[in-house]
Amino acid sequence: MARQIIIDTDPGQDDAVAILLALASPDDLTVLGLTAVAGNVPLPLTQKNTRIVCELAGKPQMRVFAGCDAPLQRKLVTAEHVHGKTGLDGPQMDDPVMPLQPQHAVDFIIDTLRSAPSGTVTLCPLGPLTNIATAFLKAPDIIGRVQQVVLMGGAYFEVGNITPSAEFNIFVDPEAAAVVFKSGVPLVVLPLDVTHKALTSTARIAAFRNMGTRVGRVVAEWTDFFERFDVQKYGSQGAPLHDPCVIAYLLRPELFSGRFINVEIETKGEFTLGMTVADWWGVSGRTANALFIGHVDEVGFFDLLIERISRL
Ligand code: RIB
Ligand code: CA
Repeated sequence: MARQIIIDTDPGQDDAVAILLALASPDDLTVLGLTAVAGNVPLPLTQKNTRIVCELAGKPQMRVFAGCDAPLQRKLVTAEHVHGKTGLDGPQMDDPVMPLQPQHAVDFIIDTLRSAPSGTVTLCPLGPLTNIATAFLKAPDIIGRVQQVVLMGGAYFEVGNITPSAEFNIFVDPEAAAVVFKSGVPLVVLPLDVTHKALTSTARIAAFRNMGTRVGRVVAEWTDFFERFDVQKYGSQGAPLHDPCVIAYLLRPELFSGRFINVEIETKGEFTLGMTVADWWGVSGRTANALFIGHVDEVGFFDLLIERISRL
């Protein structure tokens, strides 16, 4: 039976590719719903972009919900400098026609976890953890019912991408991240340490473009746009496909490796706010709470991604 998941997202070109990968894999993944959160761009855009991606995948029947429009306690920080003003800059995309669900995303998450058999729903956060933390705070009874949280966020050896010490998803809402990381929920973390090893390249973008499909062309234009920031900033030969690592982990976990360690979230530091303090060397004596992924088989990852996207 296909694994049941909820994708929590702030599209974002890399979120978009992750959503396409999930929707291209119905034999493996049943997407119960997609919950939009404020992050890369404000909520009105992330909920619209989530529907644009579902329609691009040919899945207008997907249920998309709007969630929190600001972090638990802080002002929203966005990333238009990376993703463009729309959040999906690159190709020109039409406004979505499919409806936004009327229910709040947090209530959808709570209701779904309460009604599904315990341990059968995996949460896949691809943006700030505001929706997930709000659901856990509003309905603590659901925490024990979650199969796994598999999220993109944090960094250790790769340090930060929005500040010298913090990765964007965690930095935007560190209090929300602390709620999730302290909750005791079974947690798999895909940090920059692994996503910076999943880099696009001219040949890989060409593989999307040469599919001869609209999806392939759009993905090529999204990744073309998305990579310019990282190439400029890091001098890298391509853009890290952060969020698709979450879905690829669900599909082929054997492509990834990491350590089950303690990870705490810095919520007070003047210079380290939002840092994931990952005890990779086991020196803190603190209880392990997360499988912290450090490596991916990059060729296997892109073989999977390209093959699945070509199905749409
Ligand atoms: O730091 C990378 C993460 O921040 C990705 O999820 C990207 O989409 C942005 O949300
Ligand atoms: Ca994201």
